[in-house]
Amino acid sequence: MSDEDRLKMGVQQAAARLQAARQITVLTGAGVSKESGIPTFRDALDGLWAQYDPTQLATPQAFLINPKLVWEFYEYRRRLMTPAQPNPGHMALAALQRRYPSLRVITQNVDDLHERAGSSDVIRLHGSIALNRCFYDCQGYPTRIDVSLLAWDPANGTPLCPHCGRWVRPDVVWFGEVLPSEELDRAVNLLQRTDVMLVVGTSGLVTPAADMPWIAGRSGAFIIEVNPDLTPISEIADLILRGPSGEVLPRIVEAIDAS
Ligand code: OAD
Repeated sequence: MSDEDRLKMGVQQAAARLQAARQITVLTGAGVSKESGIPTFRDALDGLWAQYDPTQLATPQAFLINPKLVWEFYEYRRRLMTPAQPNPGHMALAALQRRYPSLRVITQNVDDLHERAGSSDVIRLHGSIALNRCFYDCQGYPTRIDVSLLAWDPANGTPLCPHCGRWVRPDVVWFGEVLPSEELDRAVNLLQRTDVMLVVGTSGLVTPAADMPWIAGRSGAFIIEVNPDLTPISEIADLILRGPSGEVLPRIVEAIDAS
């Protein structure tokens, strides 16, 4: 059987599973935004940032040692994300939620492409790169800061919190930091009553997000992985759709609508 025939069969199987599902939960990673032109977390960085390992920049320690460097790394990633548009994969997930309103997307991504595609009530495990907060959350977590309202010179690096005068940081989860408990609790509660889970565009390397397919599987969920490459999640997936999400997900929606 050719890869295309296998994918065609898999798409039909996925459509049938989703149509019969009571609770559909989707976990996305950076791969779902790849076709929007946003490099995945583990893609090679280019230009100035090629010399850095993102995992060495996305930490509170790195920020405390060199806040200007880490701030500029996030400004670089914001510039990469600004022109990005939702791709057909994001649109397909929003279309699925319109057909199955209880569907929820849990994302590891810090871009806003799911929301801009029309997905609602997205569970954001790693925060949002568009937002900033006081590094010390001096007014309580999260002490959100709108840096556009601050008079500061980007040449001097990070802006300062207008409340306490200390550093402002991107409102994203860094390595070594705990995930927002409310989002994590919502995700785990959902997974325990999920009967079909779509795992899209994640390498499955970073916990606790990477544990989520196992949580759903232990609760009896049928796991469908959408990824052009093999991942640790492939070992427990009940169905693997080997291909880019921007092509595979719309085909699933088409198969559902055609049935
Ligand atoms: P990765 O960069 O680790 O993995 C991206 C995945 O997307 C890989 O498995 C690719 O094979 C797959 N992929 C590439 N192109 C794709 C496409 N067109 N369609 C579908 N999949 C595609 O990104 P994540 O798994 O999201 O955490 O990384 C998880 C977390 O690691 C990130 O959220 C970040 C990082 O630590 C924090 O920043 C806290």
